[in-house]
Amino acid sequence: MFDSRASRRSFLRSSSLAAAAVALRGSSSLAQSTQADAYIDVMPGEPIATISPEIYGHFIEHLGGVIYDGVWVGEGSKIANVNGIRKDFIDTMKAVEAPVLRWPGGCFADSYDWHDGLGARAKRPARAGFWGQQENNHYGLHEFMHTCKAIGAKPYLAANLRTEPARDFYQEIEYCNAPAGDVPSNSAAPAAPNALAAERAANGDREPFNVDLWGVGNESWGCGGNLTPEEYAAEFRRYTAWTPSYSKDPLRFIAVGPNGNDLDWTTRLFKALYANPERRHLWGLSVHYYTSGSPKNFAAGDALAFNDDEFYDVLTRGALMDKVITDHWTAITNASPNAMANERSAGFGVKLVVDEWGAWYGKGTQLAPEYNLSQQSTMRDALLTGITLDIFQRHADKVGAAAVAQSINCIHSLMLAQGDKFCVTPTFHVFKMYLPHKGAQSVRAAFTAPAIPNPMGDTPAQVGGNSYIGQLPPVKTLAGLSGSASIKGKTLTLTVVNPHLTKPMTTEIAVRGASVTSAKGTVLAEKDVHAHNDFAHPEAVKPSAVTGLNPSGGKLTHTFPPASVTSLEITLA
Ligand code: AHR
Repeated sequence: MFDSRASRRSFLRSSSLAAAAVALRGSSSLAQSTQADAYIDVMPGEPIATISPEIYGHFIEHLGGVIYDGVWVGEGSKIANVNGIRKDFIDTMKAVEAPVLRWPGGCFADSYDWHDGLGARAKRPARAGFWGQQENNHYGLHEFMHTCKAIGAKPYLAANLRTEPARDFYQEIEYCNAPAGDVPSNSAAPAAPNALAAERAANGDREPFNVDLWGVGNESWGCGGNLTPEEYAAEFRRYTAWTPSYSKDPLRFIAVGPNGNDLDWTTRLFKALYANPERRHLWGLSVHYYTSGSPKNFAAGDALAFNDDEFYDVLTRGALMDKVITDHWTAITNASPNAMANERSAGFGVKLVVDEWGAWYGKGTQLAPEYNLSQQSTMRDALLTGITLDIFQRHADKVGAAAVAQSINCIHSLMLAQGDKFCVTPTFHVFKMYLPHKGAQSVRAAFTAPAIPNPMGDTPAQVGGNSYIGQLPPVKTLAGLSGSASIKGKTLTLTVVNPHLTKPMTTEIAVRGASVTSAKGTVLAEKDVHAHNDFAHPEAVKPSAVTGLNPSGGKLTHTFPPASVTSLEITLA
């Protein structure tokens, strides 16, 4: 028996798929050795990388009801607020320790003039905004920075590349980051105050905002300008060739990446960028991958009304995030192998920044017509959240930051709010349950469980944007159990998704070279995967403590309930 487990483990280790949740054998052969339906082998001796806290990031855009009334209710509002920012929004983002908040778009960013949101609110201009809305500009740069400060999140600004000149980009940096008061001139001229910092101080914020994360445009292959990769590479270089610097650490510039799995974009972009040695400002590549509610059409399917096949299909296509990450990592590596190898060994290789992800359904469950792109979120979305965060954690060496789209009243939200009504979604709970992974060492873990057939896996997955470039191949199976593992001191955090609609998975968990002494955990599971929270039932879906965790012989056997997300904190000896 020992030998058969050992050889199974060594097969897993040598398999290129070992890190993923892969069904390697049928359940019957596994059942021969023990009563378990599945196995998880954790390998602390095979570290992947430290999990960047920034992979649990968030995104808010001027779109429908995201900013107004999701985030901004105004100072005079009867709705509980902190200087005009919805208090429930702040509290919820604090509860998930939101590390990063991206703003102002999305597509909105590339037609936004940041100057419009400065100064006395009553005097700010109202203008047409990207999503067919009239933008009153009551929520601008200062309000956004106050939101980040209240939450404790880092600001991540998406700059306008399509309609603002490079000067506005570097002056936005100057406005945000220059110190107020005399600034040394680094020349024979005497120190003098910076005019933009003085303007910021006059607008109420003397202290610099110290923004280091800058998106250089958004979806420049589509709403951000319909550029080719070569055209975008030239623009990226021009915008970042010089920017003012007020910190010993360089600014982190993020280039526009692919739509879904558009490898042609990434390959050509990196070839073009690396053809010129002066591309050192690049810190990350933005990746957008949405899971449509329908395999045939983008942004279709119903958030609430779905059958079993559609349930499995959405999760199967969501799990393609793994392929998107590995494919683009390989494309970056191969575009300029020597330069990339040098940069990675020196510790500053380009990271992937998955700054838009989530399940995107069609119309039907929006809060009201003016809450454009708002949708309900069920247990299905909670499972997709778990699957996605596990993928990021397994690829801790590649993913430097991420942002779910979008935090409130939108595609894959953690919160819904309308006037004085508010609730969190099942997705919120998963973000909270995954917090113990933050900053821990991701380690390899092999999941062995029978795969689930995807009855709808015969259509290439559509990924949105203005073309079908970037679509993904059809996938016929979903991992029967998936997850990820990380270690901090003597604590192993193991998160696990059981996507099976009816089958509990009794699983033997073993940690190579260590023994399990105790464990505690939290589980999110509902009998009906359509379960969701709404304003009348804000706690219909909520997690509970895992009971009956009794390690034996240094291992832990646990039954993961059907359609569940579980987070275990395991103490090792
Ligand atoms: O998140 C909604 C939209 O999806 C964003 O504005 C855009 O970047 C993407 O196409």
